[in-house]
Amino acid sequence: MPAKIFHMNLKIKSSKNINEKASLVTIVSSKTNLPDDFKSLSKDYIKTNFSAQKPLIKNELENINVLALAENKDDFKKLEGLRVNGYLTCKAANNSKIKSIQITGENASEVLAFTEGLILANYQFNKYFSDKKDNSLSEISVVCASVSKKDIEELTNVSEAVYHARTLVNEPQHFLTATQLSEEIKSLSKEAGFTVEVFTKKKIETLKMGGLLAVNKGSVEPPTFNILEYKPKNPSNKKPIVLVGKGVVYDTGGLSLKPTAGSMDFMKSDMGGSAAVIGALYATAKNKLDVWVVGLIPATDNRPSGAAYAPGDVITMYNGKTVEVLNTDAEGRMILADALTYAIKYNPELVIDLATLTGMAARTVGHHATVSMGTADKETHESLKESGFAVYERLAEMPFFDEYFDMLKSDIADVKNIGGMNAGAITAGKFLEMFTKNEKGEHAYPWIHLDIAGPAFLTIEDAYRGKNGSGVGVRLLYNFIKKYAK
Ligand code: BES
Ligand code: ZN
Ligand code: ZN
Repeated sequence: MPAKIFHMNLKIKSSKNINEKASLVTIVSSKTNLPDDFKSLSKDYIKTNFSAQKPLIKNELENINVLALAENKDDFKKLEGLRVNGYLTCKAANNSKIKSIQITGENASEVLAFTEGLILANYQFNKYFSDKKDNSLSEISVVCASVSKKDIEELTNVSEAVYHARTLVNEPQHFLTATQLSEEIKSLSKEAGFTVEVFTKKKIETLKMGGLLAVNKGSVEPPTFNILEYKPKNPSNKKPIVLVGKGVVYDTGGLSLKPTAGSMDFMKSDMGGSAAVIGALYATAKNKLDVWVVGLIPATDNRPSGAAYAPGDVITMYNGKTVEVLNTDAEGRMILADALTYAIKYNPELVIDLATLTGMAARTVGHHATVSMGTADKETHESLKESGFAVYERLAEMPFFDEYFDMLKSDIADVKNIGGMNAGAITAGKFLEMFTKNEKGEHAYPWIHLDIAGPAFLTIEDAYRGKNGSGVGVRLLYNFIKKYAK
């Protein structure tokens, strides 16, 4: 059953004048010259309670009156501080049951950053509560002459894309099977204006996508392979940017069953890479960027059963290479490999894959960064890192020496699917690299691999990124894709 699983809970508009009777946020650039309302506060109070990370929030009769400070010299940090201010204001507004809030300031990027933090903080996933307790905040008015209607539309669309990505991650596997994920992609594609083609099991078998089929063997649910495409009339890029997302809707580990108590609790989030790709296509299409983007999403769950693939099996992949499976829990790379091979036929400008690929990536950088590596040139990788700072979804680049590849040598097949104790995030990347090569063994396209295992799912609230599915990757990809626009 197709279902549109989410509607944005906020209306965002621009207005020319401040309504004196409604709640108001004012962004100021220094602590001197505060608006009249705040002049009664003592200097000491302001000194200890007001900073770039902490807004002054005054509760009035039915409203709140907020001052946010945009003071940091580092632009990235300044904007991030304002997003966090937006998050703190969102909390205060909902606690005070406020429905509508106005945001004003001189500088467009500051006003937009604050608004972004506020919107993203207001996200809720209430579907499964009997008592929904929806946030009161349902309207934001931006009062800033230098913010255009188009700016607001763009921010709304990108935020909505993040909401969708979060919801997809938050949906449990009993609802979000591979087939249901495809249904959700179809419904989002109609809403945003991109196309989707879904390969079902038969077609996947005909194509001999051995990696995806192997992981799916233990499942009662069929796999899907999803091709999302946004191709504007006159794209600024002649060759598409291809985004590949890991769509493991649930990862039990398979026969190499995940060991410790609790380790499966959040494995519904193992499709976080696919959620980022879906969100990026949604935002790109809805904002009508003139950039040609393709998304490839192999989807399945990973389970043990009598039919499941087993350690010791040798799998022939979509590109004909053979893989000795020594751990069925290293399933993400098996399905991504086939998608990376499939990407070759698009002759891509660049391929970026996103995956909750390794526990090692999460252990290395925690939830504050995405692990990155790849074969793209330095300039491209740096540009993606810049985007990471701009949206505060930062990258930590790993070494990617060819020697790491030696750790994947198998006694009986072309390669094995695990690399050993050390450098687990890197050897996973090296495994993927094999499948970015053509028949001659040359790299078929420049490629960046993003391991989002750390930031994709948050078990403690992290400001406007929230708790649970974070939607990481959507804003990063959108910011980066926009650089290719004319
Ligand atoms: N989905 C997991 C990685 C993961 C772990 C993501 C924790 C988010 C949080 C992946 O499929 C996996 O199980 N990887 C194994 C690979 C190992 C068997 C080589 C891992 O990291 O333990
Ligand atoms: Zn796994
Ligand atoms: Zn996994």
